[in-house]
Amino acid sequence: MKIVMVGTGYVGLVSGVCFSEIGNNVVCIDKDTDIITGLNKGIIPIFEPGLETLVHKNIKEKKLSFSQNLINEIKDADIIFIAVGTPRGKESGEADLSSVFTVAEELSKNIAKDTIIAMKSTVPVGTMGILEKIFKSKPNSKMIKTASVPEFLKEGFAVNDFMSPSRIIVGSNYTEAHSKLYELHKPLIRNNKELFFKTDPQTAELIKYSSNAFLAVKISFINEIANLCEKVDANVEEVADGMGLDKRIGRWGLSVGPGYGGSCFPKDTLALIHTAVQNESPVRIVEAAVAANDSRKASLFSKINEEFNGDLRNKKIGILGLTFKAGTDDLRDSPSVDLIARLIQYGSHVRAYDPEGMDEARKKISGPIIWCENLYQASEGADAIVIMTEWEEFNSKNLDFTKLKELMKKKVIIDFRNMFEPAHVSSFGFDYISLGRKKSVPND
Ligand SMILES: NC(=O)c1ccc[n+]([C@@H]2O[C@H](COP(=O)([O-])OP(=O)(O)OC[C@H]3O[C@@H](n4cnc5c(N)ncnc54)[C@H](O)[C@@H]3O)[C@@H](O)[C@H]2O)c1
Repeated sequence: MKIVMVGTGYVGLVSGVCFSEIGNNVVCIDKDTDIITGLNKGIIPIFEPGLETLVHKNIKEKKLSFSQNLINEIKDADIIFIAVGTPRGKESGEADLSSVFTVAEELSKNIAKDTIIAMKSTVPVGTMGILEKIFKSKPNSKMIKTASVPEFLKEGFAVNDFMSPSRIIVGSNYTEAHSKLYELHKPLIRNNKELFFKTDPQTAELIKYSSNAFLAVKISFINEIANLCEKVDANVEEVADGMGLDKRIGRWGLSVGPGYGGSCFPKDTLALIHTAVQNESPVRIVEAAVAANDSRKASLFSKINEEFNGDLRNKKIGILGLTFKAGTDDLRDSPSVDLIARLIQYGSHVRAYDPEGMDEARKKISGPIIWCENLYQASEGADAIVIMTEWEEFNSKNLDFTKLKELMKKKVIIDFRNMFEPAHVSSFGFDYISLGRKKSVPND
């Protein structure tokens, strides 16, 4: 099939490449000249494990190409995916759909053959209905069949998630769209037909938001339980392990941390709340998860500030990890971004390092920051180091505590990912602060 992917970001590029890998002829479109020019030279604009190899392989096999000329490419397309960004709107938390509508308008004017238009962007329930109206108002409307095909890949595991999906949700009011999209996804479904979940567009749209909101609730839940653990001398990791043994609960999302960030959970929870309020059907649990996440992020600064008795002036703080999680270069809504801004505001000198996010960080974080080439450079002369992202190279197998001790001015490690065993870190003479852990030691 000929597939056109409109929007060549994290979702569009990964999806486009993977569709080419399973035998389709794919053209990825983006309005950003740098992205398309770069990709045409073999430069991958994002970091995603396994992606680069697949891009080069499929370009070589002539199954994958990149273009800015949407109108030219849609002429012979079987399926056009919309995978443009739907960021948080400026005011009320509602999703900004301007890119989606721009693309839809352009498609509606230029489709000249039977084509499926499939929405991969995360869009509020009812959006496909609005798009249908746009298409119906044009003379070529009979040629267009729409579907909502939300994407569930996780950054850092995107290629793997796409090639081995947990489910493929297809919401459409057209039999032809369901059957064409089934054909397209067949190599991913293999023998497991239940992976392909047919529904209507509104339900598909809501499955996406509900999934993200549910996971956000889980993360906020364990972060609040971690706070309680600190008060009652319990251990949040054991609470999570014990809970996770119940298959109805599962362990994923129960890792204590600095609060959820990234390009999806923060904006999608707010957008769902907005839709719910508009429909006078509040989602109070999601509202609580958002509030808990906001206070989790604010508490990071307070913990550091307390360690320095409320005086952060001229303190050298090494920040290890800038991306919102490991495995990606994405800094959108990353807790590190806010934390660094506050530390600078309170007079600290920030030294920052991330294994993959440095380029993005330089674009997104401003201020007098010393950008470092490795974690040891970020620790030089530091009054404290703060671990913000769970990168492998920061874990205790890879970290040289003796070297750190020599480099740092004050021996303070503040770990917002609970990467280390407290006794191990303390044995090197560090003052070690982590989240939701027991302070007492066993009697024997
Ligand atoms: N990033 C994720 O992990 C993830 C996972 C699942 C779903 N989603 C959803 O997928 C959608 C895309 O997310 P993303 O992270 O890939 O965003 P992104 O910002 O990385 O990429 C979006 C791309 O669309 C391009 N674009 C915008 N308007 C355009 C237009 N008119 N024509 C052509 N290109 C245009 C932008 O230049 C950009 O490169 C969002 O709705 C997001 O919520 C994201």
